[in-house]
Amino acid sequence: MTTIWVRKSMAVLEAEAKVCEYDAAGDATQLQLRRTLSLTSLIALGIGCIIGAGIFVLTGHAAAAYAGPAVSLSFVLAGLVCAFAGLCYAEMASTVPVAGSAYTYAYATMGEFIAWIIGWDLILEYALGATTVAIGWSGYVTSFLKDLGVVIPDGLASAPFAFDPTGGEWSRSGALFNVPAAFIIVLVTILLVVGIRESARVNNAIVLIKLTIIIAFILVGVWSVTPVNWVTESNPTGAFIPPNAGPGAYGWSGIVRGAGVVFFAYIGFDAVSTAAQEARNPQRDMPIGILGSLAICTVLYVLVGIVLTGIVPFDKLNVPDPIALGVNAIGLGWFSAIIKLGAILGLSSVILVLLLGQPRIFFSMARDGLFPPIAARVHPRFRTPYVTTLVTGAVVAILSGLLPIGLVGELVSIGTLFAFAVVCLGVLVLRITHPEIRRPFKTPFVFVVAPLGAASAIFLMFGLPSDTWLRLAVWLVLGLGIYFFYGRQHSHMARRDLNS
Ligand code: ALA
Repeated sequence: MTTIWVRKSMAVLEAEAKVCEYDAAGDATQLQLRRTLSLTSLIALGIGCIIGAGIFVLTGHAAAAYAGPAVSLSFVLAGLVCAFAGLCYAEMASTVPVAGSAYTYAYATMGEFIAWIIGWDLILEYALGATTVAIGWSGYVTSFLKDLGVVIPDGLASAPFAFDPTGGEWSRSGALFNVPAAFIIVLVTILLVVGIRESARVNNAIVLIKLTIIIAFILVGVWSVTPVNWVTESNPTGAFIPPNAGPGAYGWSGIVRGAGVVFFAYIGFDAVSTAAQEARNPQRDMPIGILGSLAICTVLYVLVGIVLTGIVPFDKLNVPDPIALGVNAIGLGWFSAIIKLGAILGLSSVILVLLLGQPRIFFSMARDGLFPPIAARVHPRFRTPYVTTLVTGAVVAILSGLLPIGLVGELVSIGTLFAFAVVCLGVLVLRITHPEIRRPFKTPFVFVVAPLGAASAIFLMFGLPSDTWLRLAVWLVLGLGIYFFYGRQHSHMARRDLNS
């Protein structure tokens, strides 16, 4: 039984990282991932994954239903939770610069069993995250094409099942399959198989476009911001923080509930750490990539929140395309088509980075023996983990075609928050058990920041509905079954442990 707690020693991790350094020089005996990502590409990976459905879709809902004009404070709060976790990720990623992100960190600090749980949990963040964003992508593309006069029939652009999150009930929607959602997954999967460098290039270009569009929105909108727009039926005095109208409805509790919703908008900075094994200079660049992308997006999000609620009364923002609505409100209708295009591109890069992260986590787990060896194959020409990329792409394409968005979004948030809590605790464990190892980046005030990071992630988890918790529990139990049937018997570390 003890073998399930076996940890991957720092020596083993350093050796794994070194094999790859030799590989960069062309001396590897075993096929490895390619170390090509520069610092700019890493920051762009972070931004590529962060800015997406959250800012383009959820901001309006969070402002209208929960926080009002103070949605910018919800962004600050959610950004703070992510900053605590981001600092811990940065320390881990620079100390253990091997692919696999939270899974690998947990293996080094808390043992194989917890690592498996986190690896399994991360499927919710990455594979299901890509599913969620692909469904959102389909909505935007369908509406954009409709504006151009091209109509995709409803039956081919939505899920065959509908789900009512309040009652937890399923029904048939009458549709066949969400074709655009599955299409974007297939397209991105092909790109990811062809190469990390090609994928990063496409991502860099998209990030540049979406940053330009968001910054243009802020610069164009800021001149029309007026507190007059803060006045609504539920906020007759026009206060920045509207009066509380029940738990989670405006006031400070509304700001906290809003933070739980817009947390989704921040998911993705941690995806930088899944590519540690493909970074040119991971020990220096990982922390900058993670924290830099997070800082840039936090500033932009707060500004978008201020501008949006300053140009449209917040009670009108509960629409699928609030930013396009904002530019319409200031009389720039032509700009709204560009915003929609930006959102479509923006969502594509989120899908790209999430689908880049997932196979690399599976890849690490397979290299450790927890998944079948075929999953650890690297393509001889493209040098990408093509087996896991193709399998992930196929499963996510099917899920995106079949599932309704209401079911998946909150599972993504709870899965991610769980991983954040474990990484924050992992940093503390490693500081205590291995104070001597070299840490190119150290979390400042770690004994305050890490517990705060874990506590605030758990706090946001408690803000999510109980059936989301139930689904998380079912998912983890399923994962445990697989671990005890397969992973435990095949684990390389456990065998090493038994033989030593
Ligand atoms: N942060 C990503 C988004 O908002 C997941 O789409």
